[in-house]
Amino acid sequence: MPGTSRIPASLRESFNQVKRRRPTSLAAVVNLDLFRNIIFFFFVLRWTRRAFWQLRGRGIIGSLVELYRNIGRILYGYLLRVPGVRGKVEKQVAEALAKTEAKLIPADLPKYLALPKDGLTDEEVRKELETLANLDHTKWEEGYVSGAVYHGEEELTKLQTEAFGTFTVANPIHPDVFPGVRKMEAEIVAMVLSLFNAPPGAAGTTTAGGTESILVCCLAARQKAYAERGITEPEMIIPETAHVAFRKAGDYFKIKVHRVACPAPDYQVDIKAVQRLINPNTVLLVGSAPNYPHGIIDDFAALSRLALKRKIWLHVDCCLGSFVMPYLEKAGFESQPFDFRLKGVSSISCDTHKYGFAPKGNSTALYRSAEHRSYQYYVSPDWPGGVYASPGIAGSRPGALIAGCWASLVKMGQNGYLDACVKIVGTAKSIAQKIHETPSLDSELEILGRPLVSVVAFTSKNLDIYDIYDGMTAKGWHLNALQDPPAIHVAVTMPITKVWEKLMSDLEAVVEAEREKERARIAQGKGAKKTVGDSAALYGVAGSLPNKSVVVNLATGFLDLLYKT
Ligand SMILES: *Cc1c(COP(=O)(O)O)cnc(C)c1O
Ligand SMILES: *[C@@H]1O[C@H](CO)[C@@H](O)[C@H](O)[C@H]1NC(C)=O
Ligand SMILES: *[C@@H]1O[C@H](CO)[C@@H](O)[C@H](O)[C@H]1NC(C)=O
Repeated sequence: MPGTSRIPASLRESFNQVKRRRPTSLAAVVNLDLFRNIIFFFFVLRWTRRAFWQLRGRGIIGSLVELYRNIGRILYGYLLRVPGVRGKVEKQVAEALAKTEAKLIPADLPKYLALPKDGLTDEEVRKELETLANLDHTKWEEGYVSGAVYHGEEELTKLQTEAFGTFTVANPIHPDVFPGVRKMEAEIVAMVLSLFNAPPGAAGTTTAGGTESILVCCLAARQKAYAERGITEPEMIIPETAHVAFRKAGDYFKIKVHRVACPAPDYQVDIKAVQRLINPNTVLLVGSAPNYPHGIIDDFAALSRLALKRKIWLHVDCCLGSFVMPYLEKAGFESQPFDFRLKGVSSISCDTHKYGFAPKGNSTALYRSAEHRSYQYYVSPDWPGGVYASPGIAGSRPGALIAGCWASLVKMGQNGYLDACVKIVGTAKSIAQKIHETPSLDSELEILGRPLVSVVAFTSKNLDIYDIYDGMTAKGWHLNALQDPPAIHVAVTMPITKVWEKLMSDLEAVVEAEREKERARIAQGKGAKKTVGDSAALYGVAGSLPNKSVVVNLATGFLDLLYKT
């Protein structure tokens, strides 16, 4: 054979040796090598892809900043663990918690630490409940609380209580036993859908609150992307200001969360940054209408265009906007597109228990189609307890709450909500205007962005805004402290519409008092140390640390306190 004769003898020999080996072992050697190379190739590919998306999403400088911050966090974590430091930090955390405990837990009340041997009489229970309702508290009834109680008028509350009474034992998990509850629930969804200009075929569910609505919508987006695109490492892109429930959803459902800055002066999410972060794993884009911290509506027209172009689910968080957003236009206020009329919008969360004025524990998750909704369902066909199907996270649910919600919606009606929108948004605008028009406030406070709905957030130019917050707390107001940037906000509710002028005069007084303190401190000369208030300590000092594990410890301790008897 001419071919073989040209091969040198030595090579021919080894070739023959190889040929003489059992063919299976040759295959094994070759395959193992190949296998290793393939694995290595995919490993490199995977990390190159990740590096590519990281660099594209955040840029080289952004990625370096991220790296720098992470290293800072780790190093600071080690510092916190140095024995001397650790003891000191633990002691301070314990002191702060002891202070909170003294405020939170009344010492002088009889305690039930085990079931009473014989049940109390009705009269005794009533008396106990009365005492509990009248414990010393912030006066929400008089409008001293931002958010929290959105309506609270006696007439509506009474009707809700009646609705509860009529459906005390009802549970929608048994629709045949409680048909009235099923009907009310379906109608609540339909009524809310109609507020958001839902297209034909749109669908929704009720949930126990805004957080649950957000959780199920994130879950549905993830499940749909898995079913249709096989995505196993899902990612979502949210504004930095989006509700914390999206971070929770990321943690619970293993969706990587990219947070995008919402820079001044408009405090809307940076659309270009969102666009850069989109990659083949992106399953969800999010915007708020409006967001909780600053009451700003994100640019949904742009988000919707992005979502359509890249075929990604877009969620509108209208939990806070609830029934005010849909009435802005009709009430004659400036608005922005945000609902299903934008073709890119796949789902909306709307809290009936905020400006829908329903009793707490009620919200809705709305979807562009029943198919979208089907991804939040949970069905188990082979459970020994029977074929099981539930629309969302909860199993048994209180029918009474559904009745309370339904009663509130039909009692208020379109004109009731329109009227509420006029009053609430009108008051928010008056508050902003008052700040601008009052020289002592205008020179000191700065409103964040251009709030169009019910929340007005402001920071201070020269003073510590957290001291102003503490000053307002001392005057009986329960406002909300924000961070990044340091600020406080007022979420206007029906009770606040009646007392906002008092709110403003108290704010003026507090700002003046803080100014006075600052002047005195400066007069004392350089050495005078600023005393740090409670809120300033939490948000200013602890919050500025590179590793916030101290804050985490404090907050965890606070949660423990909630269950302390
Ligand atoms: C209140 C709120 C939610 C949901 O919060 P819940 O307390 O769970 O009802 C979601 N998003 C925004 C913007 C909110 O203000
Ligand atoms: C922050 O510090 C804590 C406590 O020392 C540590 O457990 C944690 O890992 C640190 N965080 C990071 C991101 O390193
Ligand atoms: C009301 O709240 C309960 C749970 O707390 C929930 O099961 C129900 O679906 C809610 N209904 C509405 C209309 O939001």
